[in-house]
Amino acid sequence: MRLQILCGLAAICALALTTGRSQTAITESSPSIVHLEKRGAATQLIVDGKPYLALAGETDNTASSSLEYMDTVWPKIVRMNLNTVLVGVGWDWVEPVEGKYDFTLVDGLLAGARKHNLHLIFLWFGSWKNGLSSFAPEWVKADQQRFPRARLKNGKAVEVLTPFSEANLQADTRAYTAFMHHLRKVDARQHTVIMIQLENEVGLIGDSRDRFAGAEAAFARPVPPELLDYLQKNKETLWPDLRNLWEAAGAKTAGTWQEIFGTSTASDEIFMAWNYARYMDHMAKAGKAEYPVPVFSNTWIVQPQDKAPGDYPSGCPEPLVIDIWKAGAPTIDINAPDVYLPNFSDWAGRFHRPNNPLFVPESSGNAGGVANAFYGIGQHAAIGYSPFGINNAARLSEGQPGGNTPEPIALEKLPLARAYALLAQMTPLILDAQAKGTIGGSLLNTNQQKQDIPLGNYIVNVGFLHSRRNPVPSLGYAIVISVGPDEYFVAGQGVQVTFTPNTPGPEIAGLARAETGKFVKGQWIPGRKMNGDDVLLDYDQAGASARNQSGSGLRFTGDGPTIQRVKLYRYH
Ligand code: DGJ
Repeated sequence: MRLQILCGLAAICALALTTGRSQTAITESSPSIVHLEKRGAATQLIVDGKPYLALAGETDNTASSSLEYMDTVWPKIVRMNLNTVLVGVGWDWVEPVEGKYDFTLVDGLLAGARKHNLHLIFLWFGSWKNGLSSFAPEWVKADQQRFPRARLKNGKAVEVLTPFSEANLQADTRAYTAFMHHLRKVDARQHTVIMIQLENEVGLIGDSRDRFAGAEAAFARPVPPELLDYLQKNKETLWPDLRNLWEAAGAKTAGTWQEIFGTSTASDEIFMAWNYARYMDHMAKAGKAEYPVPVFSNTWIVQPQDKAPGDYPSGCPEPLVIDIWKAGAPTIDINAPDVYLPNFSDWAGRFHRPNNPLFVPESSGNAGGVANAFYGIGQHAAIGYSPFGINNAARLSEGQPGGNTPEPIALEKLPLARAYALLAQMTPLILDAQAKGTIGGSLLNTNQQKQDIPLGNYIVNVGFLHSRRNPVPSLGYAIVISVGPDEYFVAGQGVQVTFTPNTPGPEIAGLARAETGKFVKGQWIPGRKMNGDDVLLDYDQAGASARNQSGSGLRFTGDGPTIQRVKLYRYH
């Protein structure tokens, strides 16, 4: 009956039938849709109406192509205390024959995640996966005439779809849109899927720009006015190297790519970035018209040995061209970095920008990875952290006793599992503090042995844990949250934490009370009362006079991250 009434309006009925949508459109402003929201000092991911912290992990690329294999993975993921899993969906897996979509695999992954009480982030491996087109279906790969390839300087075509082809764009968009349409149908009520990664580490490898005929023609044309407008409007906040290139070429407001950005290969990279961004923005828009969950890109960051674009994927959203991506792909909510390099804190800082919240879809999952997670979440209000290869426990145990073996120590004891358990306890406090701007993070390694974090009425001094009995650790990390004029929660490992008053008044901080504990359903349950040898006394520190005998700071030993609550007092 209802259908008959609706179908009186022929056009609406046709639309409802072709798209399978109900009449109430789900838009980004629908209250229950997963979305990003600016909340005070942070942009947070809102899931089911509440801020969400993704304690995530990404599976190996093809793990998700077999539901049988995933059946062995889900329980491990639960044991490691993840709340979110990133899994690939290959274009080939869902459209092996042109126009015939099969989402059995997607439905199976949703069912597996739901059964284990996990959220999913799907990675759309469409036109590009690590710059290559290996996940495109055979009917695309085999028809080079219809789906043209990128070409390098040496004149050779590579087995990579060129972003300068309407046919490539339309074919990928159709498949991606069908996928998003399906997700809306099967998940709009349950919100198992909380974000989508569009493509994977895009960019051209082997040359700084594509030499396909269509690309050469585009390179000879003027820079699009939308991009030039963006540069002018956002001049003050542009990445400094991009601004320098533009200004060194005369800060022109019209001209070709080389006239605007100069004749170095950086112009090629900027040109590629704009064109990948436009391609992916078109896809993201079409996908969001079906189902508007947040979308991000991931970046293969420049490695120390790389000399020019093409050594790393030219056009990927790396810092030099992140503004180009913001201008060309405004529908992509986050440009995220994949960080395997040891200087995680530098990269987190480069990608966390006022218009780009930090999400780390790929990084390490060993003890160093835990330090990254603490730092990103604490210092850069990250919406989540995700080590790569979560189905491979041996990789996560690197650097641990019993590590690097096929089935190492108990999964629950892995550094990541212990850290995620602790971060899960603290999540309400962390999310609240991210919004209030009352949280900081520290990551110490051999290059950075101490950090001072101004927070509340004190500067929080985080340094490696010094001890007369134990060797100085080579890794330490902490999250610090100010919860009152003289009160903090600190969670970490391998560090000592002291407090320097940062407001007028007595200049020394002492410990009024320090206690370990845990959060149960958001409530703090105190444990040990920390004092004596278990806090930091000044005579522990080389050369320091023992002026503060009641304790000047907290100790976090090396046997797993713990939480302490501290109340300070001040004296002369
Ligand atoms: C980065 C890619 O984005 C991933 O898909 C995966 O291939 C890893 N590298 C492997 O380390």
